[in-house]
Amino acid sequence: MDEVRVNNPFIVGKYLSDKYFCDRREETEFLRKQILNGRDVALISPRRIGKSGLIQHFFNQPDIQEQYHVFFVDIYPTTSLAEFVYTLGKDIYAQLKPQSTVWKEKFFQIISSFRVGFKLDGMTGAPSFDVGLGDIQAPQTTLDEIFAYIEEADKPCVIAIDEFQQIGEYAEKNVEALLRTKIQKCHCAQFIFSGSKRHVMSNMFNSPSKPFYQSAISIGLEPIPVQTYREFAISLFEERGRHVEAEVVERVWQRYEGYTWFVQMMMNELYALTSEGETCRPAMIEDARHNVIMAQEQSYKDLLANLPPKQKIVLQAIAKEGVAYNITSAKFIKKYNLTSASSVQAAVKLLLKNDLLTQTDNGYRLYDFFLSEWLATVY
Ligand SMILES: Nc1ncnc2c1ncn2[C@@H]1O[C@H](COP(=O)(O)OP(=O)(O)OP(=O)(O)O)[C@@H](O)[C@H]1O
Ligand SMILES: [Mg+2]
Repeated sequence: MDEVRVNNPFIVGKYLSDKYFCDRREETEFLRKQILNGRDVALISPRRIGKSGLIQHFFNQPDIQEQYHVFFVDIYPTTSLAEFVYTLGKDIYAQLKPQSTVWKEKFFQIISSFRVGFKLDGMTGAPSFDVGLGDIQAPQTTLDEIFAYIEEADKPCVIAIDEFQQIGEYAEKNVEALLRTKIQKCHCAQFIFSGSKRHVMSNMFNSPSKPFYQSAISIGLEPIPVQTYREFAISLFEERGRHVEAEVVERVWQRYEGYTWFVQMMMNELYALTSEGETCRPAMIEDARHNVIMAQEQSYKDLLANLPPKQKIVLQAIAKEGVAYNITSAKFIKKYNLTSASSVQAAVKLLLKNDLLTQTDNGYRLYDFFLSEWLATVY
């Protein structure tokens, strides 16, 4: 594959190639083993650890590329079966588009519900996908057609459905059972279901009364070990004529508990602050942290503007604690002028649901470390 050259080697928010991806060898091997042996996988880990990245890395392996059609479908923004079907079709087509196979040509033939959106580009003559959500009149029919299309594939498919727990939130109640049935009948594709809400995902795959019970092998993703990440970061600096003290990487890793997104954001900024020939030292961490947080400030303000006052107060109180224990204790309530234990509980429930808080062993913290620091110190 062509070498991708980027200005800053600490990539955030997308997958580029092996070179900018740290480790995950065992996890990639694990996925390979399950998929090659015909098993579906449920990948469960807290947010921002690197689930989506791992799946993309796995899909990027030459042997997997060769043997399978791979599709990555992110259903995070979907709220209904119609949106699910729309996203599934749209994402599959987007990933097929660069190919020129007989199978691709059959897309609009078999999925007749999408035919309204079949347009030929005036300039190039290439077909495009111009379907709107409103065109999905009968989601179940379209879903059947998509699965029928997959069954026609010229090689097996692996379909990763990212943020799979979302289907539990759909307005329709039967989506889990419906999908399970379709997937079970589908011989030509295997699935990777990934999700960040541990209890929802576990419940889906491990509770006997649920349609997906024991239908996939579960794997949890842990942070990349600090030593491994340290070597990775140092070598990315060195390759480009810069240096970084091991202590910088270790401190950043510790502060953000190895959560890849936060660590990569910080290392990206630290790299930007280091000129060629120079060494990145621990004294630069504070500046980097400040820059990273301030770059997000507008989005934090927008977020708070949309948050009900009761939740905002509780969120800030928890941010100030870092990790908050005994949130319903008289001490905590008095310290932050909160109304009552029950109102704190109600707010926490909603904050958890909306992914703003996360539960630690016996306390709560903001899942976004940067937002937490901003709320505790700047706001
Ligand atoms: N092994 C890795 N090496 C380098 N960067 C990585 C690695 N894994 C993930 N990243 C980077 O860290 C960020 C977070 O990873 P990713 O989006 O995969 O996490 P996630 O668990 O899917 O998060 P979310 O729950 O928010 O979807 C991404 O921007 C990605 O670029
Ligand atoms: Mg993700």
